[in-house]
Amino acid sequence: MKNRRLVMIPGPTPVVRSIQDQMGRETVAFGDPGFVKDFKELLVDLKELWKSSGEVFVVAGTGTMGMEMAIANVLKAGDNLLIVSHGYFGDRFIELTERKGINVDIISAEWGQIVPVEEIEKKLSEKHYHAVTVTHVDTSTGVCAPVAEVGEMMKKFPETIYIVDGVCATAGEREYVDEMNIDVLLTGSQKAFGVAPGLEMVWASEKAMARRKEIGTIPEYYIDFEKWLPVMHDTSKYYATPAVNMVWALKESIRLIKEEGIEERYDRHIKVAKAMQAALEEMGFTILANKDYRAVTLSNVLYPEGIDDLKFRTILAEEGSQVAGGLGAYAGKMFRIGHMGNIDMHDLVGAISGIERTLYRMGVDVLGKGVATLQRELLK
Ligand SMILES: Cc1ncc(COP(=O)(O)O)c(C=O)c1O
Repeated sequence: MKNRRLVMIPGPTPVVRSIQDQMGRETVAFGDPGFVKDFKELLVDLKELWKSSGEVFVVAGTGTMGMEMAIANVLKAGDNLLIVSHGYFGDRFIELTERKGINVDIISAEWGQIVPVEEIEKKLSEKHYHAVTVTHVDTSTGVCAPVAEVGEMMKKFPETIYIVDGVCATAGEREYVDEMNIDVLLTGSQKAFGVAPGLEMVWASEKAMARRKEIGTIPEYYIDFEKWLPVMHDTSKYYATPAVNMVWALKESIRLIKEEGIEERYDRHIKVAKAMQAALEEMGFTILANKDYRAVTLSNVLYPEGIDDLKFRTILAEEGSQVAGGLGAYAGKMFRIGHMGNIDMHDLVGAISGIERTLYRMGVDVLGKGVATLQRELLK
């Protein structure tokens, strides 16, 4: 049977019609008064919704550029950085910062576990770090870091900048910049915002902006906070061409978030994650992440004995859902499924039933079990 293919990878996530419509609008000049107003309102909303009294930057690029922007503006060659890694994307900070001549120490968790806050505190007590990075949800493991607890602990280290990678978390996992004592939060448009790839957003605290000033001219040009700040304060100004239609698309995503209520959105993500994970377990899969630290935005799912990864994902695509493979040592052993952003009941039931049909075609009959569990959980 011919099936519509659901994008169930952990980003990009399904883009709803009203957001697509914004991307399909006739592009206007970036100095157009209507666009200038829209961009300004978007920035106000981003600060308000994420409770930030600092600055926010919205720039064309991807999450990796957000990581680079965060690092480039608060660290210089020779500075000390502590990287807290919960997987592949935590590790991405290593190469990114070593290339810049930053001195890097790393504390890593076993995949599926977290680095305890006490361990981070111990490390920070041993020497002076100019910054620490924590990946809120590492997409390679489905682990959600205790970002608020780390932020609380960081109050003992006022000289250290706290950087959070929210690429797979922001707009799905609870994240409040000032309350959580975050100095730099970076994210991208394509995951829990439900927008197509193409924008990165970075929030920076007063402390981060002061650090930016202190380090003087930086080698990076396009991602320099100081170059973009005049535009973020007055959206009629030019530094580099804003991605007009993507800004509109993100604005529509924010309108949807406000319509739903951001707290309600976070609660919905918790409910959906629990239901998806229960349904997957009911069908015989195992979730990689420790139950206490599971992300609500995606699940990283280990195959039962005898299920071939490539065959599973190929049949599942025929059955209407695209999921992602495992990374690193988990390549071939697990798949990753997103359940964030503007995903709805049809997508969830469609994905789980597609997995049931896939298993059936591979000789495992669990027809009805996953869908029943999913729906029971969602109806609670
Ligand atoms: C946690 C995390 N950080 C950073 C990135 C990099 O983002 P991008 O692929 O948009 O450059 C990703 C991408 O999946 C991610 O999941």
